[in-house]
Amino acid sequence: MNYMLPAAKQLFLEVNPLPDETATTRAQMEKEFFSSVRLSNGVFKTTSTLRLDDVNKALIALFQDLGVAPKTFLDVAVSSGISTIEWFESLQQASLKPSMTATDLTMTAYLVRLFSWCNVLVDKEGFPLQYECGGFALRPWSPKRYYVLGDWFLTLLYRTLYRRFGQRLGLLNRLKSLEGNPPPINDPVIKARIQLVTWRLRDNTNIELLDDDITQPTPPHLRGRFEVIRAANILNRDYFSIPQLREAVINLRSRLVGPGTFLIVVCTEETDSNHGTVFRLSHTGSFEALTRIGRGSEIEDIVLSV
Ligand SMILES: C[S@@+](CC[C@H](N)C(=O)[O-])C[C@H]1O[C@@H](n2cnc3c(N)ncnc32)[C@H](O)[C@@H]1O
Repeated sequence: MNYMLPAAKQLFLEVNPLPDETATTRAQMEKEFFSSVRLSNGVFKTTSTLRLDDVNKALIALFQDLGVAPKTFLDVAVSSGISTIEWFESLQQASLKPSMTATDLTMTAYLVRLFSWCNVLVDKEGFPLQYECGGFALRPWSPKRYYVLGDWFLTLLYRTLYRRFGQRLGLLNRLKSLEGNPPPINDPVIKARIQLVTWRLRDNTNIELLDDDITQPTPPHLRGRFEVIRAANILNRDYFSIPQLREAVINLRSRLVGPGTFLIVVCTEETDSNHGTVFRLSHTGSFEALTRIGRGSEIEDIVLSV
């Protein structure tokens, strides 16, 4: 087990390859980084490569059976977006011409400098996602395993420093005034805006990246735009209450173009097996279940009832 957590600054801002870097080590570092990020709503950014392969295959087989070739795709709650790229590539390999949008609650983050030796990665509201002091990165939350006394003490120390100096520097107001835009070059506190996605997505002009909260009403720029929406490892009963899940499904429905379009809800278990359902929007505005992967989605009853 590697106890050295990759620092956001190193992963997202350093242009030169890391020492001994290969595509595999970079992928492993990204996996460790994203698994360590816990958002203010308690959801983790955990993801990994090839996680949704069987889901991608099942969907393409379904499109072929139905004789449809959708063009507009939305992947929500994408985390690093590694599964989004894999989905995009699998669609292209099946001779489709996808236009893909990837969204996440925390796509945009900021690197804040508290002192010359101490940075904090925060979300747009100033919620800390990672501390980095003296070159060592730390999670701001308490992992149940591998949590040694030193970690606990340092985390507490950094949390106190962040609260005290963040307040003194007027950080929350500064972040709010940016409205998701990059900071001015000479900003003494907010050093950079970071898009929290894999390097493979950051330079990919084929995939649109947006911040988006699926529990909130659909913003105008997403309304009625997509023929296929995927919600993987987000619409879980562990994360949200039944009313919140219902609301999220209604919100996603309003992003679909209309009858005949698709919603995929899937969840990966710890054994890496996927369980999901592909729904199709009917003329009455309700969903019907078209096909299942594994045991099907754990929220199938909720989707069918909206
Ligand atoms: C476990 S990851 C899933 C990543 C990816 N879909 C996959 O299956 O590999 C959950 C993601 O949901 C995002 N998330 C949490 N709450 C959200 C919300 N209300 N709206 C949109 N995304 C959210 C988190 O930022 C995180 O990246």
